[in-house]
Order: sequence, then C-alpha cells, then structure tokens
Amino acid sequence: MADSVSFQQIGVLGWYFYMRTVDLITRKRDGEELAAEELQFIVDGYTRGEIPDYQMSAFLMATFFSGMSDREVGVITELMLRSGETLDLSNIKGLKVDKHSTGGVGDKTSLIAAPIAAAAGVPVPMISGRALGFTGGTLDKLESIPGFRTNLTVDEIKAQVAKIGLAFAGQSAQIAPADGLLYALRDASGTVESVPLIASSIMSKKLAEGIDALVLDVKVGNGAFIKRQIQARELAQIMVTIGRRANKKVVALLTDMNQPLGYAIGNALEIMEVSQTLQNGGPADLVRLSLELAARMIFLAKVTPTIEDARLLAEQKLLDGSGFKKFREVIAAQGGNPRVLDDFQLLPNATGMREISTPRGGYVAGIDAQLIGQAATLIGAGRATKEDAIDPAVGVILDVKVGAKVDSNSVLCRLYYRDDANVEEAAALVEDAFRISVNEPEKRELILEVVS
Ligand code: URA
Repeated sequence: MADSVSFQQIGVLGWYFYMRTVDLITRKRDGEELAAEELQFIVDGYTRGEIPDYQMSAFLMATFFSGMSDREVGVITELMLRSGETLDLSNIKGLKVDKHSTGGVGDKTSLIAAPIAAAAGVPVPMISGRALGFTGGTLDKLESIPGFRTNLTVDEIKAQVAKIGLAFAGQSAQIAPADGLLYALRDASGTVESVPLIASSIMSKKLAEGIDALVLDVKVGNGAFIKRQIQARELAQIMVTIGRRANKKVVALLTDMNQPLGYAIGNALEIMEVSQTLQNGGPADLVRLSLELAARMIFLAKVTPTIEDARLLAEQKLLDGSGFKKFREVIAAQGGNPRVLDDFQLLPNATGMREISTPRGGYVAGIDAQLIGQAATLIGAGRATKEDAIDPAVGVILDVKVGAKVDSNSVLCRLYYRDDANVEEAAALVEDAFRISVNEPEKRELILEVVS
C-alpha cells in the first residue's frame, strides 16, 4: 500500500505543507514533540482508513518508547474524542458519573460498582473496553451473557440511562471510534503499556459520554500495565488534569494489582463471581474495592453530603439486594436473560478442567497476576490478534489467595477450557505464577492512594 501523504492547511494563514506518515513515525521514534496538526494527520488518517495498520503500529511503538508531552496527550485525547459524537445527557436529572479501570486481572468491579451506584440514584452511562493484553474487558465479560448487546446507539444509551439509570456500551462508529480502532491495534502490537496511550484511550471515551464526574481505578502491580506506583501516580495525575480541563471532576484511586482480584479470571466465570458478589457472597478484596468505587461515584454525584455517608449507602445497596436487582434490569434491557445470574448453566460452560497443585506446603507468598492473565488468554479468554474470537467459557479459578496456608498437593487453582491445544503451556505459566514460602507474607493494602 502506498504511504499516506496529505497536504494540510495550517491555521488562518492558509499555509500548506506536505506530511508523510513515515516522517511522523521517525520523528516520534527520535523523541520529538509533534504539533497538533501532525497528531491530527495521524489520528484522523487512521480513523478514516487512510493510514495502514503497519504504519500505525509503528507510530504506537514509537510512542511507547518515546512517550508524549502533556500537551501531546491533551491534543490526542481531544482528537480521539472528536472522532465521534458526544452524548448530551443534560435532560437526565442528576450528576452523571462513570467509573473506569486502567485494566487488571480478574477486575470485574465495574459490573458491581455501577449497579450499586445506579441503585443509589446515580445516572451511569458506562462506555467500556474489551480485553486488552493479559487483562479482561468489561464488554467481553458482558457479552458472555447470551443475547447481551453492547453495541448500543447513542439514542439507546440515553434512553436506557433515563429509564433505569445505567447502560453498558462499547465504543462504536458513533462514540470515540478512533479509540476503538487504536485499542484493538495496541492489543495486537504490544503497545498497551504506555502512559500517554492509556490516558488518551480512557479519557477520550469517558469525555464522549456526557458525564459530570469520573472515578478512575488505576491499577498498580504485576497484574497491571503499570508496575510501579510512581508511574501509576503520573498516569492518574494526567487523567485528572485532562478531566479538570474539560470541567469534569475526576478522582483516581491507585489500587494494588499484585494478585488477581477475587477468584475468577475469564469472562463467564467472572459474571458468575459478580452474581455471587451482588448477592453478598463475594470475596473480601472484590467487595471492598467495589464498594469503595461505588461510594466514590455516589459522593461525586452529590447523592450524599459526605464520603462516609456514601460508603454507608453503597453498603446498604449491596446488602439489601438493590444492586443485584439493578444488574438484572440492565441485563434484561440489553437483550440478555437475567436468569443467568441464578442458573450458571445458562452461561457458556467449559468442557475440560485441569487442577494445578503445589508440590510443597507453606504460605502463598505471591501470585503473579500477569502470568495468570496470560494463561487465561492462551486458553481463549483473550485475543492474540485483532481478529481472534474470545471463548467466553474459559478461564482460571483460584482456590487460594496470597496469605493462604497450603499443604503439599493442595490445589492452587483450576484451568477451565474447551480446546486443549494450549492447556500444557497455560498450566506451566500458572505453576510459575504461585510463590510458596515458609514465611507468612506481610499484608498489602488494597487501596494505596487517592489522586484528585
Ligand atoms: N482501559 C482503556 O480504556 N484503555 C486503555 O488503554 C487501558 C485500559
């Protein structure tokens, strides 16, 4: 394919100059800051299909290594936002609030926090992503519910938020289409773990939603794209600043991702754990984080005067089952059968199971969440290429979490699969993920820091 070439008109003076994608890739590779017009050439050109995947992948890789200035991140976010429509939710009463995670393993908090917040009276228009790298995606999890539609139109999102207070949708040709295209390409080109690319991806679709406020869960650790707290803080600060410039209140929690969240990793398996959690049977870490995120949403929506009141309200909406009821309503509204939450046989189920046990006893001192996520991806829970289909039934269920005492031959986790092609490789990854020690590990904080 010929290289993309364009004559661009710059500013009011009407200067024209000649731009070639390859030159912009080279300059970004060499660490130069690109002008707004140059970033526009890249983002618009790729969104229109004029820049081929191989050049865009090279540009993303150059960005991965060279980074972007704050100005460039602001510009690229704006360009991605403007690649589609912005929802106007002004006729819906109340402050509209959303929540988004930077991506983790077993992170299903959106599916718990959003129904709880909506049940407390917060209107939530949620635009989520698909599995990325070794992490899962909210849309893929929801689509493991037979019939569940995430490709809602702008009008459908508005109508559903007005009627039941919550809609789960994905990017589309209408909403932040540039992010949809770049997200899929990053997933398949090893360019996910980049602060400017994560910040622009998240903030472009969030600003397209017509929200007033946003709660961000910035994951840090071996199961996150960002491994160090200092970098996570930088990412949080960039996103909070982008939000502030757009007149949105943004709060970011930095949270520990050094082991999977909850016990289930994999799409339908996670829906099962969401159902148990919304019925008060969830794992402690998942419950704690989901409630805190829901409380932050409730407080930002000004439903309660203090964050302490918001925490009490979130807990009440979990305990009295109204969060669960809200999730059922959303499933029904988006074409799924809410009975999947009571009868897990109605969800896709794996046909094979492999137990992984420990040869020696001791304490579980660490669980490398990235290796667990990679194992789940290998057996079909994620994608290796843009075109791959996900197998919604497969994944990993942990039997133990960090700190558990285990005997030799205790089961550590189980792999659930339908096609045994990669099971050996996945089992080897999972075996490597567990660290067993004679010493009891120190307890880690789940919520590390708040940036606002
Ligand atoms: N979530 C997103 O929407 N984009 C990213 O890049 C990472 C997490």
